[in-house]
Amino acid sequence: MSVARILPISAEHPESGPLAEAAAILRGGGLVAFPTETVYGLGANALDRRAVARIYSVKGRPAFNPVIAHVASVDQARALAASWPPLADRLAEVFWPGPLTLVVPKAAVVPDIVTAGAETIAIRVPAHPVALALIREAGVPLAAPSANRSTAVSPTTAEHVAKALGGRVDLILDAGPTAVGIESTVVDLTGPQPRILRPGPIGSAALEAVLGPLGDETDVPARDAPRKSPGMMNRHYAPRAQIILFQSDRRDGVAEELRRAMISGVTVGAMLLGDELPGHHVLRMPDDPAAYARALYAALHQLDDLGCGLVAIEMVPDSILWGGVRDRLTRAGTRAD
Ligand code: TXA
Ligand code: MG
Repeated sequence: MSVARILPISAEHPESGPLAEAAAILRGGGLVAFPTETVYGLGANALDRRAVARIYSVKGRPAFNPVIAHVASVDQARALAASWPPLADRLAEVFWPGPLTLVVPKAAVVPDIVTAGAETIAIRVPAHPVALALIREAGVPLAAPSANRSTAVSPTTAEHVAKALGGRVDLILDAGPTAVGIESTVVDLTGPQPRILRPGPIGSAALEAVLGPLGDETDVPARDAPRKSPGMMNRHYAPRAQIILFQSDRRDGVAEELRRAMISGVTVGAMLLGDELPGHHVLRMPDDPAAYARALYAALHQLDDLGCGLVAIEMVPDSILWGGVRDRLTRAGTRAD
């Protein structure tokens, strides 16, 4: 695999040189990985069918899983929507730019490949100066899933992107680690009631403060249950290592399991909130949900890089504020079908 081209860029005051170069690549149908406040995205011109097709092939993403269109303003969002529900305006006013993705009816200008053939489109305005400046400079909306291989751990640094995608992307803009660390909350506004398709940094309480009661929240679906959000495969955000996701009261049993694995030669890692466990690489995780989210994917990437075959992860508290992190841990810990 060829080596990725990485251009440094200031996170607060993006320089015009790297922006112009990245925008030219995007206008020419190429792929640019860029930082958002959540994770790094793999961007292409959302109005260019062939460019978006390259995203699917580079990620190994199944054709049924639609991508998010990133725009720099509500007006640019409305141009991609067949209709714009009043609730979208209310949410945009409060949460944009920010880690909230809205699913609305799709306009005809959007190629079908962006939405995987669906009549709805997912749109957000990211809260990152580089992402916003890049969208404006390119002059087009950017289709951008997370810049990782399908079902693998999302990237929160340019190095994570380079490791996963290498030279298959034309350019990586490197503005350092992302601030939020897990992907945006996805809210569907096309049904009778708004509902959360993917839990994330903006929790249900914050949404309900604006919207009133939400429809049923997505849970990890049963194996054959129909998928509300096509991207919510059970197995997702998964490192190469086998994961043991455990509740604190099972600590003793897990300690025994880890000891046995170490004796048989397996490199063992752990991500803990409470007491120590045996392991070669034991990471202490933050006990605050926002700090945990920021650290989560970097920890999973690090344990993979250290060659861990088995990683024990202590489950986080069962409260609304931990919803986004709980969701990602559960998916990382689900064994492949
Ligand atoms: O924070 C984020 O959202 C990051 C950054 C790069 O913006 N992007 C991201 O994209 O996580 P991706 O493609 O990895 O996840 C998009 C999610 C998937 O779960 C997908 O199924 C869902 O959004 N989605 C996209 N379009 C949809 C649609 N029309 N209806 C329902 N769900 C949709
Ligand atoms: Mg993703």
